[in-house]
Amino acid sequence: MEITEKAPAKINLGLDVISKRTDGYHELDMIMASVDLSDRITVRELPDSSDIKLQSNSSFVPLNKKNHVYKAAALIKKRFHIETGVAIYIDKKIPVAAGLAGGSSDAAATLRALNQLWQLGLSLAELAKLGEEIGSDVPYCVYGQTARVTGRGEHVKPITNTKKPWVILVKPAFGVSTPDIFRHVDLATITHPDIDTLEAAVVNADVDKVLQNLGNSLEDVTLDKHPLISKIKSHLTARGADAVLMSGSGPTVFALCHQEKKAHRICDSIKGFCNEVYLVRML
Ligand code: C5P
Repeated sequence: MEITEKAPAKINLGLDVISKRTDGYHELDMIMASVDLSDRITVRELPDSSDIKLQSNSSFVPLNKKNHVYKAAALIKKRFHIETGVAIYIDKKIPVAAGLAGGSSDAAATLRALNQLWQLGLSLAELAKLGEEIGSDVPYCVYGQTARVTGRGEHVKPITNTKKPWVILVKPAFGVSTPDIFRHVDLATITHPDIDTLEAAVVNADVDKVLQNLGNSLEDVTLDKHPLISKIKSHLTARGADAVLMSGSGPTVFALCHQEKKAHRICDSIKGFCNEVYLVRML
């Protein structure tokens, strides 16, 4: 039997860094949303082996124990005493080290797929709990729908999001290291988006209020190191995007646009400027 699960990319409509914890992680308050730029994870049982074998169409992902997909499979096998092996194919579409949680979403899709393959009957909440052991964004990615996410990333409260704008994702040619960006956070100077107001605006489908309250505490930190991100933001704003923000720790910038024609126009105009551009829908 073979199971395929979609692994959508995420963006942060809001990301507030509240404090640094004693375990080295940061306490966060976020509104996360998924977009229809997805990897696909396919799992197939290997009856004559107990190994986890990874394959991918991408040369950017490690096909070994460092991969979040491998960690997810190893965790499930160990926790539920599963002897049989599994072949996992990672069909990669989401750029890596981009601030779009591609690796975390792949791990989450692996958890969902193996839950079906091995008929474990685990709920999304139980899969999200396992996901915590793999990475901070994995619990959100298990749900893969708009949510308020707090703590290190482990508390996920799905919220209703009826307004689904077009999203233009612009990924500069360099990657960013998330630990490196968090290391440079100065809690005394970072900005703090109002996540309560943003959540209420999303739930009430108040488009203008959502656009006014988007914000990311990490943006200035990454911008300081990579001025190209500011240029991309200015370009998107000048072309009439409804709102523009960096996602996660970056470097991907997203523009929201509620008019399809305008979204296509903005997308075409940025292509000469940056060659990794995606026009997608919020899920
Ligand atoms: O959990 P994950 O391994 O994805 O996190 C990568 C790094 O990002 C952590 O090692 C930490 O430096 C930083 N991080 C953080 N606070 C969070 C999530 C991640 O400081 N809530």
